[in-house]
Amino acid sequence: MFDKRTYVIRRNSIKERIPTGLILLLGNNDSPKNYTDNIYHFRQDSSFLYFFGIDRPGIAALIDADSGEEVIFGDEITIDHIVWMGNQPTLADQAAAVGVSKTLPFKKLSSILKKAQQQGRDIHFLPPYRHDNIIRLHQWLDIPLANPAAHASMALIKAVVCTRSYKETKEVVEMEKALNITRNMHLAAMRNAQEGVTEAYLTGKAHGEAVSGGGDLAYPIIMTVNGQILHNHYHGNVLKNGRLVLGDFGAETAMHYAGDITRTFPVAKTFTDSQKAIYQIVLDAEVKAIEALKPGVPYRDIHVLASKIIANGLKDLGLMKGDVEEAVAQGAHALFFPHGLGHMIGLDVHDMEDLGEDYVGYDDQIKRSTQFGLRSLRLGRKLEIGFVLTVEPGIYFIPELIDRWKADNKFKDFLNYNAIEKYKDFGGIRIEDNCLITKGGHRVLGTPIPKTIAEVEAVRMANDI
Ligand code: GLY
Ligand code: MN
Ligand code: MN
Repeated sequence: MFDKRTYVIRRNSIKERIPTGLILLLGNNDSPKNYTDNIYHFRQDSSFLYFFGIDRPGIAALIDADSGEEVIFGDEITIDHIVWMGNQPTLADQAAAVGVSKTLPFKKLSSILKKAQQQGRDIHFLPPYRHDNIIRLHQWLDIPLANPAAHASMALIKAVVCTRSYKETKEVVEMEKALNITRNMHLAAMRNAQEGVTEAYLTGKAHGEAVSGGGDLAYPIIMTVNGQILHNHYHGNVLKNGRLVLGDFGAETAMHYAGDITRTFPVAKTFTDSQKAIYQIVLDAEVKAIEALKPGVPYRDIHVLASKIIANGLKDLGLMKGDVEEAVAQGAHALFFPHGLGHMIGLDVHDMEDLGEDYVGYDDQIKRSTQFGLRSLRLGRKLEIGFVLTVEPGIYFIPELIDRWKADNKFKDFLNYNAIEKYKDFGGIRIEDNCLITKGGHRVLGTPIPKTIAEVEAVRMANDI
């Protein structure tokens, strides 16, 4: 937990933006895996953590924007809980630690909300994503079960995005902690990889580092020899020399700040020539995109810059042809780079995605594209000091997509399908780092993780650095 003042100041900024009505922030609850007492690891809601800091299930908070009163609702633990779970701080003590002097039993919340609704007061809540909270909003406020997000408060969404987007120095410190644990995860994967071990074995080594670091995973581990499958959570393949391992994983700290790093390395200790050629293009795109980060630049432009570097590199290898500017403008390069260059990161790996991607990553000036590839860019708006974001270009050879586009003769002026055919068993390469936007430009967060071809091969060969 940060100091009390941090939470008081954050809540005051919300009150300034929302002058009237009730502001309801729902915490998360324990979630059963296969029966009530066998639960998934508890994860508090990130906005609740941000404004109220209390990391325990079964609580909610109300801010009366008119009077300024703040109340945390929850039930104090009983002797039965203490017998099974040990003694815990009281909710009243936890609330006091974040500057809230009033707590009430959870069941009181329902009647207070219902009364406010009868009085015609605005009740601001964020888009719910957990089914139990969706049901609660339905029971308390008659919010329809279908599409409850449509009834969320736009004013509150905007106020929260406005606050959480600008990272405080102490948050950046936490994120660098997350990244340094994440570094250990990636080194563990690189050091333990060899022909004959499974993706699951490496996944366990990486996961262990996250837990040993005091937190857990920021998101499910991608550890795959099939990097061309973008969200691949299968870990059953056996590593074979000649393949690449794409590892996209990160830790979250005990305070729940996330790291999100991707590295790609050869199962054999060195890259083949064709792997080196593709890797170097991705690396150039990543490094030059990072160099271009500074306040005032739309991130969409940096995505386009990385796309042009990728298209140029692939043209040099004979996989693309024609005018690179035009190829990228039309989206031909998205055969190889079908996702966005990056996203905001903070308490969530895709920060505030529960509030609505477009409210976080786009604004009145810059709207999301509908073009394949560019439409998957989560962050397009102009960069500002204090933003923390990922830079994660990649090149993938997706056999099904290649076959489909080839059959349709799609972008035949820009794509050399005969040459591309030879790469259909290549897999994919992505390289990802996390960067803070500063007055002078940017800072790559965390201790550097091996990234150049020479650095990656050195870790693979030395098995120790
Ligand atoms: N780890 C998910 C992503 O890179 O966006
Ligand atoms: Mn990632
Ligand atoms: Mn990412």
